Amino acid sequence: MNIISKVIGCGAYLLENVVTNEDLAKQVDTSDEWIVSRTGIRQRHIVQDGEMTSDLAYQAAKRAVKDAGIEQQDIDLIVVGTTTPDDTFPAAAVKVQSRLGLTGGAAFDVQAACSGFIYALSVADSMIRAGQIKTAIVIGADTLSKLLNWQDRTTCVLFGDGAGAVVLQAQSPNGDPAPKGILSTHLHSDGNLRNILYCESDLVAGVGSRVIRMDGREVFKHAVTNLASVVIEALEANGLRDTDIDWLVPHQANKRIIDSTAKKLKMSDDKVVLTIANHANTSAASIPLALDAAIKDGRIQPGNLLLMEAMGGGLTWGAALVRW
Ligand code: ACO
Repeated sequence: MNIISKVIGCGAYLLENVVTNEDLAKQVDTSDEWIVSRTGIRQRHIVQDGEMTSDLAYQAAKRAVKDAGIEQQDIDLIVVGTTTPDDTFPAAAVKVQSRLGLTGGAAFDVQAACSGFIYALSVADSMIRAGQIKTAIVIGADTLSKLLNWQDRTTCVLFGDGAGAVVLQAQSPNGDPAPKGILSTHLHSDGNLRNILYCESDLVAGVGSRVIRMDGREVFKHAVTNLASVVIEALEANGLRDTDIDWLVPHQANKRIIDSTAKKLKMSDDKVVLTIANHANTSAASIPLALDAAIKDGRIQPGNLLLMEAMGGGLTWGAALVRW
């Protein structure tokens, strides 16, 4: 291993506006009891007028850069995993670049729905390993609340908005047998399953008419199967066993899906980073938001082995193994 991508900083951003299950029960035929028992969600942060994905992404990126303690000018790549960029083009990433006052390097978005952060991390890691860039900000940011039908109880209770970011930097392992950084990433997709979870564009649905459509039971079934297989793949690729993992940092779609993956890995609840109760499903933002929470409260410590996994519309799914 000549170069490894080390995570040198982390940041997150959540909005002030909190919508509880009780608030939703006033709008649609649902209840706190139903939502908590089926999903684990208790509340979500939701954008208000004028707040856009790039605003959240910028705030998370700024915090990650501060945490990394680097000069902003060192950044030569910005990748945003998002399904809800402010505009069809340009990318949310170039808006972040501009607000950070940067003009050099590259900036682009990766669209892989809820797997967006894992996909973006994998792309940036590959570019670092190839020697193409040295320092990258990888952001997961989404405002899926803008794509919800707030009268559809089967989807509106599930999602929230937010952003999280990490700073990656090329490091030489210098013969260290357990170097800190991204050990491997594993990406998959199956476009045959695109119709069980999707959102048409304005071009197809008509301006202002696009909404998330989901066959929840089917998504649930595939999530359990695909996530179990990709976490095993990640472990086997590194010659590791489930007992080697210190923390599971999963995409926060449904607590029952997370419990199923943890069971497969024989991990007890106290080794799983859970934010779903407070954040709901923030799509590409959910893994870096969970990561930031567990770093800031001291659960994740240097040297810990982290397994991140996600699945989303596409279907797309993936995993990343990281030594912190
Ligand atoms: N409140 C009350 N009742 C509800 C609600 C609600 N919010 N939503 C659905 N129900 C009702 C249904 O209408 C149904 O009623 P019926 O039996 O009279 O027909 C009943 O509850 C059971 O519905 P199911 O869909 O079978 O409920 P299930 O236990 O499967 O839970 C859920 C639904 C939570 C959506 C689950 O299927 C799930 O989490 N699926 C995965 C979703 C997911 O992971 N998405 C991630 C990807 S998102 C992305 O990539 C952008």
